[in-house]
Amino acid sequence: MDRCLECGEVVRMNDVTFAYNGIPVLEGVNLKVNCGDFLALIGRNGAAKSTLLKIMVGLLRPKSGEVRLFGRDIRNFRDWGLIGYISQNAGDINASFPATVAEVVASGYYGGLKGFLDRRARKNIIDEAMELVGIRDLAGRLIGELSGGQRQKVFLARALAKKPAALFLDEPTTGIDAAAREEFYRLLAHLNRERGMTIVIVTHDIGAAFTRAQKIGCVRDRHVYIHEQINEVDQNHIADVLGYRIGDDYVDL
Ligand SMILES: Nc1ncnc2c1ncn2[C@@H]1O[C@H](COP(=O)(O)OP(=O)(O)OP(=O)(O)O)[C@@H](O)[C@H]1O
Ligand SMILES: [Mg+2]
Repeated sequence: MDRCLECGEVVRMNDVTFAYNGIPVLEGVNLKVNCGDFLALIGRNGAAKSTLLKIMVGLLRPKSGEVRLFGRDIRNFRDWGLIGYISQNAGDINASFPATVAEVVASGYYGGLKGFLDRRARKNIIDEAMELVGIRDLAGRLIGELSGGQRQKVFLARALAKKPAALFLDEPTTGIDAAAREEFYRLLAHLNRERGMTIVIVTHDIGAAFTRAQKIGCVRDRHVYIHEQINEVDQNHIADVLGYRIGDDYVDL
């Protein structure tokens, strides 16, 4: 997290525009994610939330504008070990995929390119990530045999295995029951508050977003509107903008 202390910000976007096949989906986006932020990105299907997240983690390159990670132009950024990313539908895995939970979590560590550690030190890091997420008892199970909620936790542990300073999660709780979802968000809040981890999460769980995040980013009409304070007025406004009504059952506030 030293890099955070140096520049104070994880992501900065200046006038970012992105298009698929010439059709713009993001235009003139300016935003800043500070170190220690817990930002929830919300918006309707197709609003470009996943696209925005992929630009943040360098998987997509903007058509124009500037993206900076930890104070550095993303084109020159090399410290990918600082960043954990879980893609939308990461848990969609064939039931016969031949990897155990421990192997999947370990692959996150190798992705961090932390250099060589002896076997024991490596095992400790992987065990710690599984312990933190509460899946140590699943270590030897095949990933394809787990439930959706269990798989989400495995991918969180995988992202944590490289000890990132910032986590980017794209709808990590889709299809998970309310109790497991609550537990997942509690864990994210713990990582954010106790370990100073910056969290950017794309979610349709409006209730959880309002409860757990400190900031809300509405992705709408190719723009991103950041709400720094989540008060009741903002909640109603945001719900209105998104076409949700607070109190609707499916919003699950
Ligand atoms: N690879 C692609 N090629 C062309 N168009 C794409 C591609 N990926 C996404 N799009 C389009 O870009 C827009 C934004 O897509 P994106 O996946 O970022 O939306 P989203 O907000 O994440 O939606 P959801 O809530 O459904 O996940 C959509 O109109 C989508 O059809
Ligand atoms: Mg998406």
